[in-house]
Formats: sequence, C-alpha cells, structure tokens
Amino acid sequence: MNTTVDQADFFKTLEEKSDGGTLRGDYSQCNAQYIVRQNWPAYTPQQHALWRKLYQRQAKLLPGRACELFIDSLARLDAADEIPRLDRTSEALTKATGWELVAVPGLIPDLTFFEHLAARRFPVTVWLREPHEFDYIVEPDVFHDFFGHVPLLFNPIFADHLQQFGNGGLKALKLDALKYLARLYWYTVEFGLIDSPHGLRAYGAGILSSGGEIEHCLNSATPRRIALDAERVMRTLYKIDSYQETYFVIRDYQHLFDATAPDFTPIYERLKKKEALPANSLLPGEVNIAPNK
Ligand code: PHE
Ligand code: FE
Repeated sequence: MNTTVDQADFFKTLEEKSDGGTLRGDYSQCNAQYIVRQNWPAYTPQQHALWRKLYQRQAKLLPGRACELFIDSLARLDAADEIPRLDRTSEALTKATGWELVAVPGLIPDLTFFEHLAARRFPVTVWLREPHEFDYIVEPDVFHDFFGHVPLLFNPIFADHLQQFGNGGLKALKLDALKYLARLYWYTVEFGLIDSPHGLRAYGAGILSSGGEIEHCLNSATPRRIALDAERVMRTLYKIDSYQETYFVIRDYQHLFDATAPDFTPIYERLKKKEALPANSLLPGEVNIAPNK
C-alpha cells in the first residue's frame, strides 16, 4: 500500500525542523511517492569529477575504520569513476537482495520514506553537493545516500533488517512514536559502531560517508561510546548539525538484530512517560567504551 503525503503538508511540517522549511531539491517533478527520474545525462563533467574526489578521499579512509562487510560490498559496486546510474545499480541490487533504488529529490516525508523501506525500495537523492560543501552538507545528497547506504543493502541480512525498520516505522507512526524509532535509526543505521577483534569499526552510513566523523567517532576521547540498548537509544536526543556526542556500539550484527526484534509497543508506552536524555549523557552503571587510540 502506498499513501500519499501532500507536498504542502510535507513542507509545512519541515518548517519546524529547518529554517524556513526549504529544501535543496526540485520537488516539482516527483510523483505521489516522491519518486523522480535521475536524469543522469544532466550531470556535468565537473560533478562527476567532484564525485570521484569524494569517493577517493572516502575509500582511502575505510581500511581500519569501516566494518569489513561495508568494505567488501563497496568494492563490488564499481562506483568510483562517476556518479552512478541508479537504474543500473538497482538492477544488480534486485538480483542480489530483491531491493531496488528509487530516485528522490531529497528528504521525503517520514511516512513515504518508511513505506519505501517496507517495500524494499531505497530512496536515493539525485543532487550532488557543491565543491564548497566537500566536507559538510546539511541535507543528505547522492554521495551520502549512495556511498553510505547502498553497499550494505547488498547483504541479505542487512537488507531484511532495513525492511523491518520500514515496517517498524509505519507501526511507530500509528502509535505516535516515530520520534523514538527515528532516534534508533539515527544511532544505528546512520551512526552505528561495531566492535571487532581489531577494535571499533563504523557501520553507520552517516559516518561512512563523512570525511571527518569517521576518524572522530573511533579515535576521539570526546564522545561517549555506549553498548547498544534499544530503549536507551530511543530515549536519547541527537544532533544533526555537529559530530555525534554519543555513539552506540554493537558487539556483532546479531546484537543489532536481537535488540530491534522485540515488539516496541510496550517500550513506546514507557518512553512516553519519561524525559528524553541529552545527547551527551552517561547513566549510572553505563560503561564508556574506550576509543581505538
Ligand atoms: N521491532 C520493532 C517494532 O516492534 C520494529 C523494528 C524492527 C525496528 C527492526 C527496527 C528494526 O516496532
Ligand atoms: Fe542517511
């Protein structure tokens, strides 16, 4: 089932989150599910060159910092040379895990986003950042969405997990609990760390596509690093315009799947009666995991 979120309503709710509620993308061409055509021929040689620079910088940072699964999956994508054609990757992805990629103008309504995930469709933004935004962008662009998220979608177990997130999002919307699930998404899919025999590694897309945070999250003494507990994470506020003040660490992927498997309905009920925790809190009894160096 696909429900339509009216664009006027979408931009109205955005006003709370961003200055003036304006977004970068061109929303004039999208359909009811906010899907657009990628129009690949319209990218300029300069944009492909910027992509290559972003890719090369980031690929160099991965060894010793990204989880093995990500490094292996990225290598199979063949996306180093130019902005990828989403339809081609989508075809390969469908063969691998039954997911497809859909092109979108940028951020889309929560309901639409989770409906896509629940239907095994991953929305990828079509625009690329400008050269002066090489290190930092406010909204996700094609580099973040593609480089950060698509590799793990080629892994069948991760692919299933993300679909479950989609279903969980639709359920949370009905229970008026989306903000809790959004925090879990943020601290796992976007900013998750995993322990490994060689030290901490990143598996979150927001880290893996970031030139600065990939080092900071593993090696800086400043942020907290706390073992993942779903209820704790869903109580925790997050920052969207700075490096994270806390990262949540999984022992292995099974830890993540086990933590997200239970029915969240009773957790949501408990959370509604509690205050949220600041992004930099460490509760009594919690261990602050040491950085790699
Ligand atoms: N178990 C969650 C619920 O009951 C759904 C979920 C699954 C969320 C997997 C995230 C990841 O709502
Ligand atoms: Fe993302």
